[in-house]
Amino acid sequence: MVNVLFVCLGNICRSPMAESVFREVVRQKGYSGSFEIDSAGTAGYHIGKQPDRRTLEVLEDRGLYTTHRGQKIDAELLEWADHIAVMDEANFENVHNFLHKELKRPPEPEKLFLIRDFDPEVRGVQEVPDPYYESKEAFEEVYVLLERSSEALLEHLIDLHGLEPDPDDEEE
Ligand code: 4NP
Repeated sequence: MVNVLFVCLGNICRSPMAESVFREVVRQKGYSGSFEIDSAGTAGYHIGKQPDRRTLEVLEDRGLYTTHRGQKIDAELLEWADHIAVMDEANFENVHNFLHKELKRPPEPEKLFLIRDFDPEVRGVQEVPDPYYESKEAFEEVYVLLERSSEALLEHLIDLHGLEPDPDDEEE
């Protein structure tokens, strides 16, 4: 099993969306049996809360539903994760420092990276911008970035781990 954790600041806008989008991409390609997928925030403002209404709407418009509740990163979650895909530089630094302290050495690039390292259309800043104080359109843009990046991330992880599709998974 390959464990993937998506991380943003509050775990109510970007990372729960990333979790749902990646889970759907994995399902469509027939790899559900190979992955455990979760998300968390570096801050604890929204622990136990459901995702932001705009994240839920963007997902629901595409037939995706989530039961995720906000959680904050901790040693157990970061150890559980084989791969930690972070939305922006500030949160990357935060997780990097946390892991460095826990592991007593810097995390490997395969363990901790920015999700947009995998965006084939990235230009300049490799971040998923924080949409929290923005309009619904900003959430739509986040979705587009996440979908592109998730597809490329999955291809990378299939190669890295030598994964085979599960014949019982439904492909669409
Ligand atoms: P997220 O967005 O990190 O994508 O979940 C935010 C959610 C909440 C806050 C900031 C960003 N906040 O300040 O409460």
